[in-house]
Amino acid sequence: MRHPHSRTTRWRVAGALGAGLLCAAGLATPALAAPAPAPAARTASASLDDGLALTPPMGFNNWNSTYCRAEFNEGMVKGIADLFVEKGLKKAGYQYVNLDDCWAQPQRDANGRLVPDPVRFPNGIKAVADYVHAKGLKLGIYTSAGTRTCDSVGLPGALGHEYEDARQFADWGVDYLKYDNCNNQGLDARQRYRTMRDALKATGRPIVYSICEWGENKPWEWAADIGHLWRTTGDIKDNWPSMLSILKQNLPLARYAGPGHWNDPDMLEVGNGGMTDTEYRSHFSLWSVMAAPLLIGTDLRKASQATYDILGNTEVVAVDQDPLGKQGTVVSAAGGRWVVARQMADGSRAVALFNESGTAQRIATSAGAVGLPRADGYAVRDLWQHRTYNSAGTLAATVPAHGTVLLRVKADRHWAAYPPAVETGLDGGLLLTAGTPATVTSTVTDLG
Ligand code: GLA
Repeated sequence: MRHPHSRTTRWRVAGALGAGLLCAAGLATPALAAPAPAPAARTASASLDDGLALTPPMGFNNWNSTYCRAEFNEGMVKGIADLFVEKGLKKAGYQYVNLDDCWAQPQRDANGRLVPDPVRFPNGIKAVADYVHAKGLKLGIYTSAGTRTCDSVGLPGALGHEYEDARQFADWGVDYLKYDNCNNQGLDARQRYRTMRDALKATGRPIVYSICEWGENKPWEWAADIGHLWRTTGDIKDNWPSMLSILKQNLPLARYAGPGHWNDPDMLEVGNGGMTDTEYRSHFSLWSVMAAPLLIGTDLRKASQATYDILGNTEVVAVDQDPLGKQGTVVSAAGGRWVVARQMADGSRAVALFNESGTAQRIATSAGAVGLPRADGYAVRDLWQHRTYNSAGTLAATVPAHGTVLLRVKADRHWAAYPPAVETGLDGGLLLTAGTPATVTSTVTDLG
């Protein structure tokens, strides 16, 4: 500190510039907003309480990239496990390598056991599990709470076979079960999903239990002590309207999510080609703010660097995986300008400024509106730009069409000791004396 007044002086420079020059650049720093509201009360809901899925599951599932095509096979699954390690995704937190529909033969064997498709999985599922486990990863599998799975071929479901099938999965070394809803014979969903919960528990193996009944029976109201996650919607498609529709169905369910029991707005489409990278960044940002499971749904063997950069953004993943486990809620949504904020364990807030519309928009909120305590200044981290800014309370950016600026904001009592919120060039020294004229040049960065 070179001058006793430097704190005040810098504050004024930042405030003035913030109000004037910065609005289009991304983050402005004008007057402080309203006092913070009290933190929202946590929803009390019983959960399985078995220590599993304390943060939303992360991993891979083949469905969105292969459906039942032949390329879904042992080679693919092993290749994904290899890439998880090689490309740093394992280190970033991705753990489960999950098989979806079509891994099984149409008929059970003479003992009523499920048989892996010998073309896709010539060495069986245990061999795949061993391979995946040797890499420090976990294996997931799929079946349906019905007589047959969802694929039109009609592969065996677990209805009436819950205990044998759960035992079989555990013997193979399966760590995660996605339990679908096709061919359910009109039987009560709660009962069907409970039976499999009990069957999995009876194996003694820790198995994450993913309920996939597409939100038909409002599982968020009854499944917290049955499964670790439940689908809230129908299947996602690799296009903008589908992602948007699922987002809007999942956002109002925030209060039902928490450690060990998550809303599941379906698997990621990032990298599959039906949306732009800007749209995929929105998809990934919003799923993270919603504490959604992050299940990669693209064939990583063919993925671009841009796809890896999105999926591997550890600052965004950290939002998803925050141990407090609070799903973000809508702060405002007008004219396609969405503000969705999430309380984080360290007291900060993750704030998504999401532009649903087809043209660039300035989206603005305040530290108070997203629930932060009143403070002289805030540190604002842009999780895609990987840059930190300062603000006196306004959180704003010009967001491109279909884009999201994702911020992590915390009260910062050291704020006044930092340079102004814009990069400035001052004539003379770095500091100004109050009341003395000075020439200021500013560099404005387009954050879009
Ligand atoms: C349902 C599920 C999908 C996928 C398919 C497999 O549609 O919702 O996620 O598992 O079945 O057939």
